[in-house]
Amino acid sequence: MSYTHPGSLADKVVIVTGTARGVGRGIARTLARNGARLLITDILADELATLRDELAAQGAEVRSVVADLRNSAAAEEIVEAAHRHFGGLHGLVNNAMAIKPPSPFASQTADDFDLAISTGPRATFLLMKAAHPHLVAAGGGSIVNFGSGAGAAGEPGFAAYGAAKESIRGLSRVAALEWGADKIRVNVVLPFARTEGTDFWEKSDPEAFKAVVDAVPLRRIGDSEKDVGALVSFLLGDDSTYITAQSVFVAGGSGVSR
Ligand SMILES: NC(=O)c1ccc[n+]([C@@H]2O[C@H](COP(=O)([O-])OP(=O)(O)OC[C@H]3O[C@@H](n4cnc5c(N)ncnc54)[C@H](O)[C@@H]3O)[C@@H](O)[C@H]2O)c1
Repeated sequence: MSYTHPGSLADKVVIVTGTARGVGRGIARTLARNGARLLITDILADELATLRDELAAQGAEVRSVVADLRNSAAAEEIVEAAHRHFGGLHGLVNNAMAIKPPSPFASQTADDFDLAISTGPRATFLLMKAAHPHLVAAGGGSIVNFGSGAGAAGEPGFAAYGAAKESIRGLSRVAALEWGADKIRVNVVLPFARTEGTDFWEKSDPEAFKAVVDAVPLRRIGDSEKDVGALVSFLLGDDSTYITAQSVFVAGGSGVSR
């Protein structure tokens, strides 16, 4: 069974943030396979260049911009680069975020909180604002933002991260309501997927990792390309034009909201 729908995103110009590794890299691979023209961006220059070269070698139209999303100017630079290279914009995937290891609520600092907010909701907000006129000019578009079960349900050790993630869901709902008239859709994806981070977790504490995966109703960890990438591709494409303001878990049945 194929999860890929070659051509389903043909001619669509899409920005994906946080593509140097993890979920973002998987999403970029899936979108490229489905024909999207991609502007990929990350703070990690070498890893980003490696992915750009990999996708280009496979025939994808792809450009990369190294940027630190903590900088207010980064959003305009990224969106301008997409417009300059491809002449338009149809989709934005706000996947990037600085993620710190879990630590008790009372030990988290104002700097921890600011980092989560600046790379999460603040960067998402600024990129959405920068993309908005281009999506209006294109006659509509699709924005996919990223939440987490650690925010939606709450998870010990993730105070700043959980707060930032729920903030992203809040601003996504408002934008979906305001921008619906312009045919701009805004949805949130809440994943559970294998990354370098989960690989490290599995190595350092295999029992705890196994317990978490065993508690997933579908009894496995997700795949960044086949599971998350496929959902993001669907949400960006023309088969989902009546879907907006939604939060979708792609987490094997493990996601809950409280
Ligand atoms: N992997 C999971 O199971 C899981 C679960 C819940 C939510 N999520 C969400 O999915 C998204 C991807 O998660 P991941 O596991 O791949 O994380 P990750 O840490 O592996 O990747 C995040 C990417 O964002 C980039 N980034 C960090 N700070 C940046 C900055 N200041 N400027 C520009 N880029 C920056 C990193 O370099 C990295 O490439 C995140 O929004 C995360 O919160 C993931």
